[in-house]
Amino acid sequence: MDISLSSTVRYAVQDNVAVIKLDNPPVNGLGDTVRAGVHAGVERALADTGIKAIVLIGEGKAFSGGADIRQFNTPAANAQPMLKDVIAYIESSSKPVVAAIHGFALGGGLELALGCHYRIAQQGALLGLPEVNLGLIPGGGGTQRLPRLVGAARALAMIQGGKPVKTDAALEMGLVDAVVEAPLLEAALAFAQARISHAEHPVIGRRSASAEGADFNAARSSVRPKARNALAQGVAIDCVEAATRLPFAEGLLEERRRFEELVAGNVSKSLRHLFFAEKEAPRVVGASRGKPGGDSPIKRVGILGAGTMGGGIAMACANAGFPVVLCEREQAALDRGLALIRKNYEITAAKGKLSEADIEKRLALISPSLDTNDFADVDLVIEAVFEDMAVKQEVFRMLDSTCKPGAILATNTSRLNIDEIAAITGRPESVIGLHFFSPANVMKLLEVVRGDRTAADVISVSMDFAQRIGKIPVLVGVCEGFVGNRMLTGYWREAGFLLEEGASPQQVDGALTRFGMAMGPLAMADMAGMDINWATRKRLAPTRPAHLRYSKVADRICERGRFGQKTGAGYYRYEAGSRTPLPDPVVDEIILECAREAGIERREISDEEIVERCMLALANEGAQIIDEGIVQRASDIDVVYVNGYGFPATRGGPMFYAQTLGLESVLEKIRNLQSRHDDHWKPAALLERLVAGGAKTF
Ligand code: NAI
Repeated sequence: MDISLSSTVRYAVQDNVAVIKLDNPPVNGLGDTVRAGVHAGVERALADTGIKAIVLIGEGKAFSGGADIRQFNTPAANAQPMLKDVIAYIESSSKPVVAAIHGFALGGGLELALGCHYRIAQQGALLGLPEVNLGLIPGGGGTQRLPRLVGAARALAMIQGGKPVKTDAALEMGLVDAVVEAPLLEAALAFAQARISHAEHPVIGRRSASAEGADFNAARSSVRPKARNALAQGVAIDCVEAATRLPFAEGLLEERRRFEELVAGNVSKSLRHLFFAEKEAPRVVGASRGKPGGDSPIKRVGILGAGTMGGGIAMACANAGFPVVLCEREQAALDRGLALIRKNYEITAAKGKLSEADIEKRLALISPSLDTNDFADVDLVIEAVFEDMAVKQEVFRMLDSTCKPGAILATNTSRLNIDEIAAITGRPESVIGLHFFSPANVMKLLEVVRGDRTAADVISVSMDFAQRIGKIPVLVGVCEGFVGNRMLTGYWREAGFLLEEGASPQQVDGALTRFGMAMGPLAMADMAGMDINWATRKRLAPTRPAHLRYSKVADRICERGRFGQKTGAGYYRYEAGSRTPLPDPVVDEIILECAREAGIERREISDEEIVERCMLALANEGAQIIDEGIVQRASDIDVVYVNGYGFPATRGGPMFYAQTLGLESVLEKIRNLQSRHDDHWKPAALLERLVAGGAKTF
């Protein structure tokens, strides 16, 4: 009969062996009650003279996924006993303790197992220390025990790389003592029985770590400085090296010190924030949680337009196994689109990431067509035709009359008003925006745009579909540019103003890439095509407030037919076939001319000013977007910027970054800019309210 040791840990006796069962769904996270329960279980077993051995095993799908992430940043996370104390207690047990691992033992879960004298794993289990992915290192002795068990070289690979190993590799390196078939508990009991008579049981902490084959300097130089976990990788390497040099107890202290530094630092805070933000983003407020793995009502997808976006979207769908009807208006465009899809797959195959058979399988899922009647039986259509309201409306009129009732009609428009598109149909409740990012088969972000009349189930099916094709969906409302592109307006505005005030394109882009952006704003404009924004500016010109400053630099560049990479010139010039931006004196001349005309006296501009103005422009607009209810939550904006706009994950996204600066200081800086510049810098009302109320977060 099982005894409850805590709300999440049970205890049973099988002959002379105590079985401690973790039962904290979904992944046996090592929350406060689990830690206390395991400690109590070992204590009980040690006190009972009839007990000769202890088995630690997990209920449900795995041994343990590590720290209970639901308790992060709550007092429960630091409640006694801490994981390291539970592990030390197990390690000191006079009776043999066997960890019986199935599913996975990750992070703290594997550290717990390393505290045991023996580890057996069920075939197929995964074992790893993935903490670097959250900007951390193992903090429960993992960096000191793993090298002592499997040698520093292998420990380094596992801890620095953060990738789990399978049972075969685990057995081969000695991470586990045996790999067994189910039923695991029986195997563990037999294994424990066989060890009872042993005079001694192996304690990892008493061993020394072999440095053989470990090249710590090579490991350090293998870290890409731009990798989001570069800092944590460096610390992981230091700690594994320390395991080869320091006595165990000192090594543990060193690990703790470095772990706490990382936990308190902004990089890991940012990565952990994003981890939660990305989990939260797909959830629709007020909707019941869908059953993951359930059936999707989407079986077949229609895509209209086989251009840049249509082709990428078709690939994303086919990659996830969805049959696609890809429709174009003329054969030549269809052929071009299909040829590009094939070429993209072949590039992936050349890198060894896809087999020829996979290519054929995916291509076979894409049925080319010139007849929109082929959309009659699809469950979802995504149109990716030219960005023009009249064209879109005509297409939606056609889709309305062609598609079956209940089919979702989606537009990939990046700026047009979804409600105006929906209004042309007899079923506005079925119309939604699915705003992919280029290249659509690669970029993870998907802005799901809900119209005024989009039905709730159309939203939830779309959010679910997005995840099925490997995207991170963020639900947004209708407004000019939705979330991502709308925020770019202020960001690009400041970049343009800074040019007039004295910075060069290279300086603006350099400051922001050094800050961590994947690309500077001007190089990004060149990549995206400057003509698109030019058209938008022209469209919005009649409503632009005349008293506000306006930089003509971008317009002047476009007037010369320079639209960016595709025309070989924009803010920069490009040599034929190259995407490397090169400084261009023509642009410097345009900038000087615009500054002169606007009566701006050019001055020295610092990198700090560039970063500050561009980042504050993002945050202020983001605050406005939150206030208007365009996003469900502030962290959604961070998800958009990190996954769609190359914002550094190590800074958590524009809204999280503003929080790390302090909302009060952000508001003060914005007010300052407003007094020096103009009402472009009117502080968002939300920001003012939050600061007045003493809030620290959005
Ligand atoms: P594109 O010009 O590369 O492709 C458009 C394709 O649609 C062309 O192949 C054209 O032949 C076809 N087409 C036009 N009218 C059609 C019709 N009535 N029936 C069937 N096919 C038709 O354009 P791109 O870049 O793929 O953009 C498509 C849409 O995606 C636009 O609404 C754009 O704003 C949006 N978008 C574009 C992004 C980008 O980075 N290029 C990013 C996100 C959205």
